[in-house]
Amino acid sequence: MSPMSNHRARSSSPSSDQPTRRDLLVGAAVAAVAASAARHARAEGAARPVAVASANGLEAVRRAVERMAAGVAPVDAAVDGVAIVEADPEDVTVGLGGLPNADGVVQLDACCMDGPTMRAGAVAALEGFRHPARVALEVMRRTTRVLLVGEGAARFARSIGLPEEDLLTERARKIWLYWKANMSDRDDWVEFPGQVDDPDVAWYIAKYGVIRPTGTINLCAVDAAGNIGGTTSTSGLAFKMPGRVGDSPVIGAGLYVDNEVGAAGSTGRGESVIEVAGAHTAVELMRGGASPTDACLGALRRIVSATRVPALLDDRGRPNFDVKFYAVNRVGEVGSAAMWSGGKFAVCRAGGEPELLDCAHVYEKV
Ligand code: GLY
Repeated sequence: MSPMSNHRARSSSPSSDQPTRRDLLVGAAVAAVAASAARHARAEGAARPVAVASANGLEAVRRAVERMAAGVAPVDAAVDGVAIVEADPEDVTVGLGGLPNADGVVQLDACCMDGPTMRAGAVAALEGFRHPARVALEVMRRTTRVLLVGEGAARFARSIGLPEEDLLTERARKIWLYWKANMSDRDDWVEFPGQVDDPDVAWYIAKYGVIRPTGTINLCAVDAAGNIGGTTSTSGLAFKMPGRVGDSPVIGAGLYVDNEVGAAGSTGRGESVIEVAGAHTAVELMRGGASPTDACLGALRRIVSATRVPALLDDRGRPNFDVKFYAVNRVGEVGSAAMWSGGKFAVCRAGGEPELLDCAHVYEKV
């Protein structure tokens, strides 16, 4: 399935199948980017171990490949890699320092999956533990269950001796208060003098503007023997409804691994990924012969056709949000695609340095 045909099937609006000239131009751009990404991935050969991740995972893919080269299983290597970002307070979308929910509480979601055993573990709305991917790994290893949520997940993490802490950093708290002050002119909170000049608040405004980030880290890894593992970890949608859970801890949505085929994961608007079982869709497309890049574009195409709520569409009927998929197949070819142009993804191979590559995309930002 070519990216071009993916795009044409979508057209400019879910209700129209007549592509405009602009659609054809965008489609051609998609095809060129996808072909270039596929060429890049293949030109490198399929050297393994290899790890692919969201752009915030540049150091995570390095660590994952180092771990696999030392004999660590891909799922453990993936969780070890992601731990770097979970512990980094500068990343406000994952782990420590993640932006809190509407009540100012940091609730984390994560999952992992192990290809050789086809076992999975996950936690959702977990409070007080900076490494939710590690907790998910322990759910997978120590229990017969897959998904623990809320206080039950915290009690499990406590019971196995993981350290507990307040994950709300000063930076995240200040950004949350800024969001509260700008939510409505009919509530009790207003902007106070100097609030937007605070360096942490100014940083947030410059980076995200009015967008509520759904940043996340996904990392999929293949070792030298072709065994596969992956993990996804997030603090979820910034300022979310308490208890809201996105795609990241949902097996088949934010992550799926099949040792016979490959692995895929996602970042971005989680509800849209859940509704098309996004990561599972990408893996099934690879099972049918798609390259990792084409599989990611195919999963995005499902989101385009499933997105019908007017509030989620722009004036041309296109999704007004971003989602990115990341994929690797069992021979070690990698790919990634985003709804909108400009995205990057991280890759590292045995013996190489980690690098950021361009994602293929469905639509060109203007
Ligand atoms: N993809 C992260 C989330 O929607 O929570």
